[in-house]
Amino acid sequence: SDHYAVVGNPIAHSLSPHIHCAFAEQTGEDLLYSKLLAPLDAFAECARTFFTEGGCGLNITLPFKLEALDLADQLTDRAAAAGAVNTLLCQEDGRLLGDNTDGAGLVADLCRNLGWGIRDKRVLLIGAGGAARGALLPLLAEQPAHLHLANRTAIKAEQLADDFSRYGDLSGGGLQGLRSRFDLVINATAASLDNTLPTLPEQLFTAGGKAYDMVYAAGPTPFVHWARTQGVPASDGLGMLVGQAAESFYLWRGVYPQVAPVLTQLRRELG
Ligand code: ATR
Repeated sequence: SDHYAVVGNPIAHSLSPHIHCAFAEQTGEDLLYSKLLAPLDAFAECARTFFTEGGCGLNITLPFKLEALDLADQLTDRAAAAGAVNTLLCQEDGRLLGDNTDGAGLVADLCRNLGWGIRDKRVLLIGAGGAARGALLPLLAEQPAHLHLANRTAIKAEQLADDFSRYGDLSGGGLQGLRSRFDLVINATAASLDNTLPTLPEQLFTAGGKAYDMVYAAGPTPFVHWARTQGVPASDGLGMLVGQAAESFYLWRGVYPQVAPVLTQLRRELG
């Protein structure tokens, strides 16, 4: 059967094999999906060997998404905009297509699983690193009323907003000067990974506002907890993880799997 894998360092705790095997079972696709631990200095070699030996596609996780961009022979628009590749597909002619499905996974989780439509909404994206950049094009494609980028280091958010200004109505700035309210606030900082919370003002949400953390955990992340204590519905990023996997699966197999049952099962297993 066709062989796929996720490559990263570390890789032991990746949920991707579990998710893709569930998709394969559900859709009746005949495939094998494994984990590859690449040495920190040998991502390209490891990926090339995988494809030389007949591998069909790779997911790429930390810290190799930038190197995967360099390895790709061709890029989708969303991968080029993200400046990072999380999915590689070996095409008929052997050329590697690089895609980035993270932002699409986020949008799918927001709009389809949670029912939090983005169109005409005021959206705040916190952070200006790789995670924020990867989300921008798919978010702007949903045509929010306005998208504001806020980052601890204001200049990075201003720069990033500048880079994407031709794709929609967006602005950038620091976390301190935030004065307006938003319908949707998305945390794309690495703060939850350190179990901390970005310093945020009170009164950030409109009535009916929602909060989303791209990070996921067994329990509520600090950002999810912070939102819920204000009575704001909040979700972590587990659905984004399953969503990006579904987008990769679709790129590879041409079949779009059902996300909801896999998400429900994963949530139960996370405890
Ligand atoms: P990633 O690829 O996950 O986005 P990154 O490129 O290192 O990682 O970016 C991390 C982001 O999280 C940045 O926006 C960073 O803010 P700075 O640009 O000011 O460094 C943000 N971040 C990390 N820890 C944070 C914290 N405790 N509070 C607020 N922002 C934080």
